[in-house]
Amino acid sequence: PFVPLRRITPSELATHGARKNESKLYWTVLEGKVYDMTPYLPYHPGGEKELLRVAGKDGTKLFNLTHPWVNWDNMLRGCEVGILVSENEMLK
Ligand code: HEM
Repeated sequence: PFVPLRRITPSELATHGARKNESKLYWTVLEGKVYDMTPYLPYHPGGEKELLRVAGKDGTKLFNLTHPWVNWDNMLRGCEVGILVSENEMLK
């Protein structure tokens, strides 16, 4: 059956940032897909701190500046939460 992806706005994404985050779940966006990177934090070769720089926001630019050769789509399989939509898109 068709299971629609969960739609996530920038403001919901922002509640999963490095600070003032009650849930302690850290989300980021890569090419429009929202990922919960929490399970991956201890395994990142670049360290947790670097990952947390993109928590709660779009990480695509920084990711591609650092290591464009890394296959994030494969690595974060199973960590996908949904897709990013604009606040306006959400009202439709
Ligand atoms: C290294 C994955 C996000 C900074 C790496 C490596 C992987 C990886 C697999 C090893 C690459 C190699 O040796 O060729 C990821 C994933 C990310 C992510 C899946 C997204 C969820 C970021 C972000 C930064 C960052 C946002 C911020 C600048 C680094 C650095 C290294 C590294 C500095 C080099 C570590 C070293 O070799 O000493 N990352 N990364 N990464 N990553 Fe990330």
